[in-house]
Amino acid sequence: MPKLKIATIEGDGIGPEVTQAAVKVLETACGHDIFDFEMVPGGAGHYQKSGQVLPDETFTACRDMDAILHGAAGLPGVVYPDGTEVGNELHLQLRFRLDLYANVRPVKLLPGAVSPLRAFKDGGIDYVIIRENTEGLYASRGAGVVLRDEVATDTLMVTRKGTERVARFAFELSRARAGAPLDGKRRVTVCDKANILRSYAFFRSICDEVARDYEDVEIDYAYADAITVHLLKRPDFYDVIVAENMFGDIISDLGATTVGGMGISPSAEIGDKHALFQGAHGSAPDIAGQNLASPLATILSATMMLRWLADQRSAPALAEAGDRIDAAVTQVLADGETVPHDLGGSAKCTEMTDAICRALG
Ligand code: IPM
Ligand code: MN
Repeated sequence: MPKLKIATIEGDGIGPEVTQAAVKVLETACGHDIFDFEMVPGGAGHYQKSGQVLPDETFTACRDMDAILHGAAGLPGVVYPDGTEVGNELHLQLRFRLDLYANVRPVKLLPGAVSPLRAFKDGGIDYVIIRENTEGLYASRGAGVVLRDEVATDTLMVTRKGTERVARFAFELSRARAGAPLDGKRRVTVCDKANILRSYAFFRSICDEVARDYEDVEIDYAYADAITVHLLKRPDFYDVIVAENMFGDIISDLGATTVGGMGISPSAEIGDKHALFQGAHGSAPDIAGQNLASPLATILSATMMLRWLADQRSAPALAEAGDRIDAAVTQVLADGETVPHDLGGSAKCTEMTDAICRALG
């Protein structure tokens, strides 16, 4: 197999540290002959220098290479005249232009990661949020209207095509999983506010249509406000949750907090042709450059990249390398000797990375 080219955008804040950690772990697990990590610029810092948050050559690399690995983007105070953040634009443009419609956010309690929900032990929380990633409320990005400095509107957009494909993605994923920890049932929960807005009622009705093709998977519904309660009280009931863009954004941070925080929560943004992998966290400028960041979210996102590439290229060895990295992370966490700052330990970013590489053997 020719080398796989990975468009690698380190970005801002802790982005470079966590990206380098993931690259090191990937090379330890897979050797040096599998990947070419092509470093390409982008982010708020790059915008300050060049006026471009996502330069054309970076976009082209992301479009033409085999996958995208990203650290984080965004710096405080780097905003557009309308007040919105520049760093976010990198991500949002890639989502829209490469049609990365399914944002996959696993919420899984690993050993050593203490949940604030004391009743749950490792494995007791294990669900995946599928966030619709190209429409919903965020489709209005850059196109909202501010009238006479008095009224502002952004439009919530839900399409049949957009909902159908993301719902299908969720049902397929549930089929590939072992069901909810509570009862082993394969279940897709539709998260919406169908009780209030037509657009959400439409979203739900499309999910219902798709569900007919998956009789082996239970369909379940939760309003977005109510699910914030359920995710704290009975997280083990959930297997796969599909949500409109903004709701998915919000509940994935909530879910992450129940399994140890953003520093351990991976994310994959997947379309039919392209995919981007990045930890669910931001650029954390307050701790950037001090070797304090946890690389776990980025490393676990990289294992999602391995599985996706394995599927795309029919290369099971890549998925197997992903399993080995996941196992190494689990082992390091379970040993409890090398623990990152955000999980109550004192291991530096590079120490976490080295411990995982050692566990890989
Ligand atoms: C996320 C982030 C993003 C969002 C940014 C980086 C555009 O919060 O991926 O959840 O708001 O969608
Ligand atoms: Mn978010």
